[in-house]
Amino acid sequence: MGGSAATSYVLKRLRPTARGFDALKEESRQEGYWMLVRLADGWASGRNIFRKRGEALFGAWHGDELVGVCGLNIDPYFNDRDQGRVRHLFVSALHRRNGVGRMLVETVINRAREYFAVLNTRAPKEAFGFYEGLGFERLEGEEFVTHRMTLATGD
Ligand SMILES: CC(C)(COP(=O)(O)OP(=O)(O)OC[C@H]1O[C@@H](n2cnc3c(N)ncnc32)[C@H](O)[C@@H]1OP(=O)(O)O)[C@@H](O)C(=O)NCCC(=O)NCCS
Repeated sequence: MGGSAATSYVLKRLRPTARGFDALKEESRQEGYWMLVRLADGWASGRNIFRKRGEALFGAWHGDELVGVCGLNIDPYFNDRDQGRVRHLFVSALHRRNGVGRMLVETVINRAREYFAVLNTRAPKEAFGFYEGLGFERLEGEEFVTHRMTLATGD
């Protein structure tokens, strides 16, 4: 739908206790995705509240409706604070292919550039094209990472 559709979405920092989160979580669960369930559980238990250095959680709103979520964490799979990770990315099915996922992940990439040397993710196969279109490189043979973006050269 191009740029005009993207302008009707607004990105803001998100808490999973916000109004509208439970409806999106339920939609994701019914589609067979567990990222928003894990996000809510991690937040409720205090295990992941996006408060470590560089971390943030973003939501995309269409009017009052929460239609997308994406988080940036220090990658918990590596003992290395220079590696960030895109986590809990989900866009409501009715709002896909409108640029919401791109807005969310580009916001995360821009923030990650300030804090991390690389940005990792583990994508389901159906999202490989999405990440590759955003400039992530496919990694083979890594257990916890399917795609990585290098953000800093170390110079
Ligand atoms: C993957 C997902 C987040 C993409 O969100 P989206 O809002 O539909 O993506 P966008 O509309 O911003 O698409 C950005 C670009 O990626 C492309 N794209 C989107 N989904 C794609 C797919 N499944 N395969 C290939 N390309 C895709 C779009 O064509 C677009 O390209 P363009 O900007 O050149 O037109 C969304 O489909 C989703 O939530 N899926 C279910 C959950 C999931 O897989 N999450 C990822 C977990 S790591």
